[in-house]
Formats: sequence, structure tokens, C-alpha cells
Amino acid sequence: MHIKQLRDERNKWFFWKNILPIYEKVQKTKQIDIKNIYIENDDWFKVGNKDDFSDSEYEEILSCAKKLIPWRKGPFDVCDIKIDSEWQSNIKYNLIKEHLDIEGKIVADVGCNNGYYMFRMLEKKPKKLIGFDPSPLFKLQFDFVNHFAKSDIVYELLGVEHIEYYEHKFDFIVMMGVLYHRTDPISTLKSLARAINQNGEILIDTFMIDGEDDMVLTPKDRYSKIPNVYFVPTVNALKNWLSRAGFGNIEIIDIKKTGFDEQRATQWSFEQSLEDYLDATNPDKTVEGYPAPKRVYLKARKI
Ligand SMILES: C[S@@+](CC[C@H](N)C(=O)[O-])C[C@H]1O[C@@H](n2cnc3c(N)ncnc32)[C@H](O)[C@@H]1O
Repeated sequence: MHIKQLRDERNKWFFWKNILPIYEKVQKTKQIDIKNIYIENDDWFKVGNKDDFSDSEYEEILSCAKKLIPWRKGPFDVCDIKIDSEWQSNIKYNLIKEHLDIEGKIVADVGCNNGYYMFRMLEKKPKKLIGFDPSPLFKLQFDFVNHFAKSDIVYELLGVEHIEYYEHKFDFIVMMGVLYHRTDPISTLKSLARAINQNGEILIDTFMIDGEDDMVLTPKDRYSKIPNVYFVPTVNALKNWLSRAGFGNIEIIDIKKTGFDEQRATQWSFEQSLEDYLDATNPDKTVEGYPAPKRVYLKARKI
């Protein structure tokens, strides 16, 4: 597989009819000169200050931020514009951050969305940070924030299926909220194993069901209104997948139900959110009658 060729192909996605106006808007914002790089690496990842820009520049930045709706991950504060995303991704970041041993390492974030976690990971001083996500909208959100952050994070419009063919290997791969979207979760984990250096580590999170058995839920159609969720394992079944893919030293970081504090509708996202995906009379169930979303967060080492 030729990564360069694929990269060139995918860069044409910005010219899709629905993406082009957003792409052009971001290009316009990218012409705004940055005199002071200001970053506050906190729950609201903040870049830039309103006072550093003229009124017309500020209006341009604000209208670009709005053009980039829906913001699913965040929150961001861009030049004092509070982009309150659907997900409070800071909750997940704070949960995993002590487990990110990435200083001086080559790190991938697979399914990086708009890069919120990668921006936060800058504080850990990795050698190189590369995000993989085949979504032009999320890449444009990243470009918008990164125009002010001026980080050297690389964002590839590629998927997990390409990572083993990438130009180099990784020391640490983060892949959160992606495994349940794969029709072939064990193959996906094997791809990660091939993309990682010997002794390298992965940190993942995925939906899970309760129980001690080696069992997997396979939703008939949608799960929590999400169309492309294929396999929801017990923790033990997930451990079996990992060991079949060549990972050991499995360390469970946390097991946690998604709460309304973490995922909710805001004016920067879609109109619907978690509340609409759960049974109105029983929040322990999804609207389809499955157990409500619960995630396991874990780390494993290639053996
Ligand atoms: C549920 S979101 C998870 C986002 C983020 N990692 C998190 O945990 O909050 C799934 C992400 O995977 C991305 N995605 C879709 N297909 C993918 C693929 N083939 N490889 C990697 N990521 C993919 C989506 O664009 C989306 O950003």
C-alpha cells in the first residue's frame, strides 16, 4: 500500500461539495497572522486571545468556528470563543493521562477526531504525535485550532486499516472509541500489533457489557442509535481478543458508564445526544433495549 499516493488521493476530499465551503473558510482563517502563540493546556484547551486580534479578524474566527459545527470533541477555547463540544473529552483525557507514558516517544492517536486528545498530550512531550482519522470535517477543525497552536502534530486522513503500512512504526498507540466500529476487531488489534515497535504499548477504550463469561453482544441494527457498532464484548472476551492479537500485560484503567455530564447536546453540536439515545423510562437501557453504554479503558503491551 502506498501511503503517499493514498494521502494525495484523500487530500482531494476537501473538494467534495459539502466540504469545500468549510475548507475555504478555514483557509481564509489561516491567513490571519499570529503574532503571539498563546496556549493554555487545560480542560478547555485554549489557544489565542481575543485582544490579539482586530474586530474583523475576531469576527472571521468566530464565523469559521461556527461553520465547523458539529464539534463532537473538546472543549476548546479559541481566542476566547468557548467551543462547548458535545463530548466533554477532558473527562476521558483526565482518566487516561496518568497512563500515557509517552515522553520522547512516537505516538499515534487512531480515530483522533479533531485532535483534542493530541493537543492535550503535548504536555507529555512526545517525540512525535500523529493522528489518524478519515474525516475531512474533523481534520478541518484540527487545522483551525492548530493555526493558533502552531504545533507540529501531524494529522493523516487515513484509517486504522492503513497504520501497519505507515512510513514508520510507533512506540505508543492510543485508539479510543474505534474498536466497536470495526467489523473485524481482532484483525484491527493485529494491525495495531504490526504497527507498533516491540514492547510498544496500546491504550484503548471500547464499549463493553457486564459479565464474567467470554461473551460478545452483536447489536441487530443500531446500538444507542449508532448505526455502525458491531461487537460489544465482556472485559474477558476483550482480553481474549487482545491476547489473540499478540498483546499481554493487560492493565484495566477504569470501567465507566457514560454520563450526561460527559455527552450532551450543546449549541456547538447536534440537537440530539445521549439523553435521546437511552430509554426514557430506564436510563440503564438504550432505546433499542441493550445495556446502556459503558466503556472499559485499558492498556496492553505487545509481546
Ligand atoms: C466514536 S469516535 C471516537 C473519537 C475519539 N477517539 C474519542 O475517543 O473520543 C470515532 C472516531 O473514529 C473515526 N474513524 C472512522 N473510521 C475510522 C477508521 N477507519 N480508522 C480510524 N478512525 C476512524 C471517526 O471519524 C471518529 O472520529
